[in-house]
Amino acid sequence: MSDLFGRAQEAVEAIRDRVRGESLRLGLQAEFVPRVGIILGSGLGAFAAQVVDAVTIPYAEIPHFPQSTVVGHSGKLVLGTIGGVAVAVMQGRVHAYEGYSLEQVTFPTRVLGLLGCRTLIVTNAAGGIRASIPQGSLVAISDHINLTGMNAAAGPNESRFACAPGAGERFFDMTTAYSPALRRLATEEAERQGIPFSEGVYLAVLGPSFETSAEIRAFRTLGADLVGMSTVHEVIVARHMGIAVLGLSLVTNLAAGVIAPGEKNAETIHHEDVIEIGRRVERQFTGLLVALVPQMADAI
Ligand code: HPA
Repeated sequence: MSDLFGRAQEAVEAIRDRVRGESLRLGLQAEFVPRVGIILGSGLGAFAAQVVDAVTIPYAEIPHFPQSTVVGHSGKLVLGTIGGVAVAVMQGRVHAYEGYSLEQVTFPTRVLGLLGCRTLIVTNAAGGIRASIPQGSLVAISDHINLTGMNAAAGPNESRFACAPGAGERFFDMTTAYSPALRRLATEEAERQGIPFSEGVYLAVLGPSFETSAEIRAFRTLGADLVGMSTVHEVIVARHMGIAVLGLSLVTNLAAGVIAPGEKNAETIHHEDVIEIGRRVERQFTGLLVALVPQMADAI
């Protein structure tokens, strides 16, 4: 078995071969190089339908790609364009709580970088810790707190994954892990479209249990606004490679014990609600991303 970099290259070659075959069939000449990568979280997979001239590859047909076991994560890579910009969209991801190693969880992110993506939009469903962030709203992640107890960059350092000058180092900066420039673009576009939007700190837990009320109180004290079970490992790996990141959370529920303004009691949390809220906010989420992708490609 080849090493991690070798396996990522094998996946990249398989994806390129597949796209080349489709391009020849469509009479297109140029090599397809995606510039923006998008990872769609729970309930947000419908956005992939926006991709123009799409080549869709099930994860099962890509060497070494992990398979999602979770409802709401369909497991397809969709390549094509949005607003004339070449994109690679992951419809579904795998999580550490499914039993996957962090190397497997972040393998697709490594592949997106090697394919050519220089910016990455990571999206997720999250619980709202700050009561002023309403259920169903979109939040740009300004920073994260990784309480999963693991770091995806641990292990031998592989500098061949560097996608930008200075990237691929053993120790790397995380002070601006979530690009302030991309966040500003997202905030301005949400404002233009009249979409309720804010910024917040995302705290990651391993899951799969939702949190206890005491944990959420502790997380609030730590400075977290949102809680979820994904994203931070992909972002760590993207930053190791030198890829600029925009993180977007959809607040599908208020976190455990958080009481909505005007309500008396906190609600019980169900995964079905996470999927249902995703469906309801789909149009706003799609409208925002379709407008953002071309701006992001110009910004970086
Ligand atoms: N906690 C953790 N992960 C989540 C939540 C939550 O409340 N909602 C959606 N993903």
